[in-house]
Amino acid sequence: MTMLEWIRRHVVLTRVALAAVLANIVIVVTGGAVRLTGSGLGCPTWPSCTKGSLTPTREYAIHGIIEFTNRQLTFVLSAVVLATLALALLQRRQRGLAVLLAASIPAQAVLGGITVLTKLNPWLVAAHFLLSMAIIAVAFALWWRLQHEPAPRLRHEPVPRAADRPGWAGSLRGAALVLVLLTAAVLAIGAVVTGSGPHAGDKGATRRIDLTPSSVTQLHADVVMLLIGVTIGFAVLARAAGAPERLQRAARILLGVELAQGVIGFVQYFTHVPALLVGIHMLGACLVWVSALWVFAATGSVVTGSVAGTPAHWHEAVDGGATPGRWDRSGSTAATPSLTRQHGRR
Ligand code: HEM
Repeated sequence: MTMLEWIRRHVVLTRVALAAVLANIVIVVTGGAVRLTGSGLGCPTWPSCTKGSLTPTREYAIHGIIEFTNRQLTFVLSAVVLATLALALLQRRQRGLAVLLAASIPAQAVLGGITVLTKLNPWLVAAHFLLSMAIIAVAFALWWRLQHEPAPRLRHEPVPRAADRPGWAGSLRGAALVLVLLTAAVLAIGAVVTGSGPHAGDKGATRRIDLTPSSVTQLHADVVMLLIGVTIGFAVLARAAGAPERLQRAARILLGVELAQGVIGFVQYFTHVPALLVGIHMLGACLVWVSALWVFAATGSVVTGSVAGTPAHWHEAVDGGATPGRWDRSGSTAATPSLTRQHGRR
């Protein structure tokens, strides 16, 4: 296989997009390490590290190296995202999302720079974190769509028809959207908890959000409880509807990740937010976010998986034909070749 043939393979683009999701999660965690080691002003200016030096100087010791290393990771992330963009343009697939993803990285770098220049204003630190969550959502949507979109050679196929959707599908999609919005609220309030807490990112950064940490944490935990309740409701609804196993599994995974993250949250609160646990909590926040997006995306392929006039395909497209259930209106379990398998992996 020639190099050109290799980069034209759909699976290559799909994997690079997955790498973009993972790279964004990694940079959230390493950004957290910068804050939690008090290295946020290890490079006190931007885009150079110090006045007159592109690289860290002795004066800032280990903090300079930590902050500088994190800044360099932006180049790794940029390389992955640019590769995603180039392949998407070359293959003419999901170009809009790929452009949006590529544009979001310099925007995030500039916001990070302004955060440093304002001596780690806590609202900007929170915005920097939340923008990363938005970027993860874009990268995830891109990856998911690349995995599930029909290949060009199948585009003559009939499009999905609303009337073919099972009655529960719309309700589950609505409930999944509520899950995503509640998760976003938990993330946003969590970022405010951090802004009012002790981990400012540098001993020179004294400004904090003027709210009582215990009160904001209470609100944060309350919304988490609501989120967990809605997730349980979603899982029960999905099971009662006989939804595809992969959707039910996604809901169970989301619940498990939420519970684990909740336990970490309580432990870190009662142990006065030790840096290591806060770092793990940041990774957990990314995992909860991706799991919620996964549940939402999985309800989407239920809704759009049907193909008008060919109900057997619907069953196949929804769960790969593995689980006959109430979603399968065809009543047939005949081994129609899976749409996903026909066009998904090349
Ligand atoms: C689904 C569950 C949860 C999610 C997704 C979540 C998410 C977050 C996020 C995104 C942050 C901000 C991270 C940052 O900007 O560095 C945060 C901070 C925090 N969360 Fe949670 N959280 C969850 C559960 C909990 C629970 C149950 C508690 C219990 C009280 C808790 C306590 C805290 C505390 C104390 C902080 C501030 C840490 C610091 O000072 O930096 N979290 N959380």
